[in-house]
Amino acid sequence: MKSSFAICALSGDGIGTEIMSEAKRALDRVSELYSVNFDIVDKDFGGIAIDRHGVPFPQDTRDCCAASDAVLLAAVGGPKWDATPVGSPKPEQGLLGLRKAMGAFANLRPVRTFDALASASTLKFEVVRGIDLIIVRELIGGIYFGKRAIERDVEGAGVGGARGSYAFDTMEYSEREIDRIARRAFELAMNRRRKVTSVDKANVLDSSKLWREVVHEVARDYPDVELDDMLVDNAAMQLVRNPRSFDVILTENSFGDILSDEASMLTGSLGMLASASIGDGTPVFEPCHGSAPDIAGKGIANPCAMILSTAMMLSIAFGLHDAAKSIEDAVEEALRAGYRTPDIAGEDTDESLIIGTAEMGERILELMR
Ligand code: NAD
Ligand code: IPM
Ligand code: MN
Repeated sequence: MKSSFAICALSGDGIGTEIMSEAKRALDRVSELYSVNFDIVDKDFGGIAIDRHGVPFPQDTRDCCAASDAVLLAAVGGPKWDATPVGSPKPEQGLLGLRKAMGAFANLRPVRTFDALASASTLKFEVVRGIDLIIVRELIGGIYFGKRAIERDVEGAGVGGARGSYAFDTMEYSEREIDRIARRAFELAMNRRRKVTSVDKANVLDSSKLWREVVHEVARDYPDVELDDMLVDNAAMQLVRNPRSFDVILTENSFGDILSDEASMLTGSLGMLASASIGDGTPVFEPCHGSAPDIAGKGIANPCAMILSTAMMLSIAFGLHDAAKSIEDAVEEALRAGYRTPDIAGEDTDESLIIGTAEMGERILELMR
C-alpha cells in the first residue's frame, strides 16, 4: 500500500493560516502514529496570491494542485479584496477556478451533531440530538458558472426608467451535470440510510424542472433508495424543524451553499463543518466556512472544520480510514472533555476550558491514537 502522499496546501487568507497550522500538526501526528509520509507543499491562493502575483490562482499553484494526491484548502477572501473595483481579480474567482480545474463537481458536506455540543446549540437539544445527514452539493455548475454580466448606462435600467445599471446571472444545468451528481448522492445513500432528498425550485425554475426529471431517471437505477423531492424554501424550514428526517440532501450549487451554512448551526458552529470536493481530478478538502475576517489574527478560530476536512482527505483521497477515524474520535473526545473555542462555548461553559485555535489543535493531537 502507498505510504507517501503529496499534498498541495493552500492556506489562503484571514484565519486560513491559523487553522492550516493545526491541520498540519494533525498530519504530523498521523505520520508518527501510522508510519505514513506526507509531502506538503504550500502555495499562494486567493487574496494573498492577488497581492503577490496579481491573480488568485497562479499557474504555479495550479500545477502543484494538479500534480498532488490532494489539495488541502483553508479559506480565501476578505474586506481588502471586497473593496477593489468590480472587474478586478477576486479571491473567490480563484476558488471557483480551482474547483473547476480539478473537475470537483461533487461537494460533500457531512452534518453530524456531536453529543457534547448538542446542548450548546442555539436550537433545542431535542431537535439537534443525533443528526447525521450529508449535503451533496453540485459544485461546478449552475448560477455560479452560468452566463453573467453587469452593464452600465443602459437605457431604461435606472430609477424611473432613466439610464442605469443592469446585471444578470444565469442558472444553467445540463442533463449530464445533473446525472453525475445525482449518481454520487445515490451511491452515498446506498451506504447510509438509503434516503435521498432532492432539493430544487421546480415550481418556478426550468433548471429545477430538468433537475427533478433527471434525478428521477437516475433513481430508477437505485430501487433500494427512497427518493423525495423538496422545494428549497421548505427544505430550509425542515432543516431546523426536523433535521433528523434527512439522510442525503442532493442539491444544486447555490442552494447547497446556503443550506449548508444553515445546517452548520445544527452542529453548533460553522467552524465545525468539513467538506470534500471531488470529481475527475485532484480532490480538494476544505472547511465550509470562509476566512472569518472578523476574528482573523486573534488566534480564536475554531480549527475543527479544518481538522475534520483533513480527516476526510485521509479517508477519501488516501484510503487511510483508521487515521481519519483517529482524528474524528479525538475531536469528539476533546469536545467531550469540555474544551471549546469561543464560537462553540455556551453560557454554562467553564471559563478555563474556553481555548484558542492552537490550544484546541493541541488538545486534539494529544487525544489521537
Ligand atoms: P465566514 O464563513 O468567513 O464567517 C461567517 C461567520 O462565522 C463569522 O462570524 C465568522 O467569525 C464565523 N466563523 C467562520 N469560520 C469560523 C471558525 N473556524 N471559527 C469560528 N468562527 C468562524 O463568512 P463571511 O464572513 O460571509 O465571509 C468572509 C470571507 O470569506 C468572504 O470574503 C467570503 O467570500 C469568504 N468565504 C470563503 C470561503 C472559502 O474559502 N471556502 C467560504 C465562505 C466564505
Ligand atoms: C463556500 C463559499 C464559496 C461558495 C464562496 C466563497 C465562493 O461560500 O465554499 O461555501 O459559495 O461556494
Ligand atoms: Mn458558502
